Amino acid sequence: TNAPKSIIVIFGATGDLANRKLYPSIYRLYRNKELSEDFAVIGVARRPLTNDEFRSNVRKSVNHFEDEKVDHDTFASHFHYHPFDVTDLKSYQRLNDLISTLDVEYRTEGNRIFYLAMAPNFFGTIAANLKSEGLTTTKGWSRLVIEKPFGHNFESARELNDQIRQAFTEDQIYRIDHYLGKEMVQNIEVIRFANAIFEPLWNNQFISNIQITSSETLGVEDRGRYYESSGALRDMVQNHILQMMALLAMEPPIKLTTDEIRSEKVKVLRALRSITEEKVDKYFVRGQYDRGTVDGNEINAYRDSNSVDPHSNTETFVSGKLLIDNFRWAGVPFYIRTGKRMKQKSTEIVIQFKDLPMNLYYDKGENIHPNLLVIHIQPDEGVTLHLNAKKGDYSSTSTPIQLSYNNNSNDKMNTPEAYEVLLYDCMRGDSTNFTHWDEVALSWKYVDIISNAWENKSSDQFPNYESGSNGPKDSDDLLEKDGFHWWSVT
Ligand code: BG6
Repeated sequence: TNAPKSIIVIFGATGDLANRKLYPSIYRLYRNKELSEDFAVIGVARRPLTNDEFRSNVRKSVNHFEDEKVDHDTFASHFHYHPFDVTDLKSYQRLNDLISTLDVEYRTEGNRIFYLAMAPNFFGTIAANLKSEGLTTTKGWSRLVIEKPFGHNFESARELNDQIRQAFTEDQIYRIDHYLGKEMVQNIEVIRFANAIFEPLWNNQFISNIQITSSETLGVEDRGRYYESSGALRDMVQNHILQMMALLAMEPPIKLTTDEIRSEKVKVLRALRSITEEKVDKYFVRGQYDRGTVDGNEINAYRDSNSVDPHSNTETFVSGKLLIDNFRWAGVPFYIRTGKRMKQKSTEIVIQFKDLPMNLYYDKGENIHPNLLVIHIQPDEGVTLHLNAKKGDYSSTSTPIQLSYNNNSNDKMNTPEAYEVLLYDCMRGDSTNFTHWDEVALSWKYVDIISNAWENKSSDQFPNYESGSNGPKDSDDLLEKDGFHWWSVT
């Protein structure tokens, strides 16, 4: 078969990401026969585990799949454990020996993926040691998959990038942004470029504004330590939100190749109008959650969470107005918002079209409803087009109607998981849905100005939104100033 063959080395094999996302994704690929029997996973972490203990963890992480066809023990037998000390070169040599043995056993033709699913402070060291100890020299291919956070700002991202680039070429590096693996995020391009009715309108003549919302109900859970030094801007905007924005705003690529698509996305990021530190408050709003009620549960304030400073100045909510200075988008605001402990878990994009030049159906002060195209990323996956039609009465007024397509009513079970798609892409050598260094660099440069402004001047209003709400009032004002409002469409 053409199923990719590879050894997958997962650093951070006992961690949350590996257990919650990676093992289940590998399982699904295996079950769907996208993986042949010719693969092995080497779990690497500090803890001394035996192969048996590791395999039993892996089985636990997939035991919610009850497929008759797949024998969980056979699946788990592909997993091997390697206890490891990041700074000890002998650890790498032994790992190399293990890879070579398994390569023969599983006929993986020298192909190896190094997946760094762990705390980022060792990314650089690991990459350097992999190279110096010869692990990147192979008769097949070797690739590096790297999880976020990719740096803390532009400077640290560049340092990290320089380090990993000494061991891997840009082509070998797969920087994960798991939003790019989501079915409906991938659909943005298809909706835009496969439909004659949208692309001609996709510009500042016909679009009034675009809104991207990614709200969560969860708080920081047990990630307080990481989140305290990150905040919503670095955690969500620098990566996921700007990536979605690039896909919404980019020019049609010449071809659907990795390079063509990436270069169009890069152009969008280059055209982002950067704001000065003094003007940040005009364009961006930050928030931090207070106590409140989410899904019927009483929730503590962010400042009362584990590993969080009781006077923390970290934002758990961001909204902002971004402008793209190019011919297509001049004058069209892109509004974004994301936050934790909000009313609902939902990621959605709303494209609001401009009003008609004249409203024939204007009736008793009622405004005509603008046309909206809504792309539902999650939890619902689909598209809704908001139109106006005749009201079923004797008057000549119009009424809003909706055309909806819901992707997951068909067979939700089979929508692939983001991580599954991305792992598979990596194994096939397709890096289209990973972020190129140029995108990372430009995104950090944009975001750094905002985080600097916020770090230099702490908020005297935190906490400023109740858990279970839609964020601080300033976020609504941001749009009202422009004569718009957030569409809450779910
Ligand atoms: C991660 C962030 O990148 O994305 C998390 O670090 C956030 O803080 C998560 O919760 C959201 O992902 P999703 O797929 O649940 O929208």
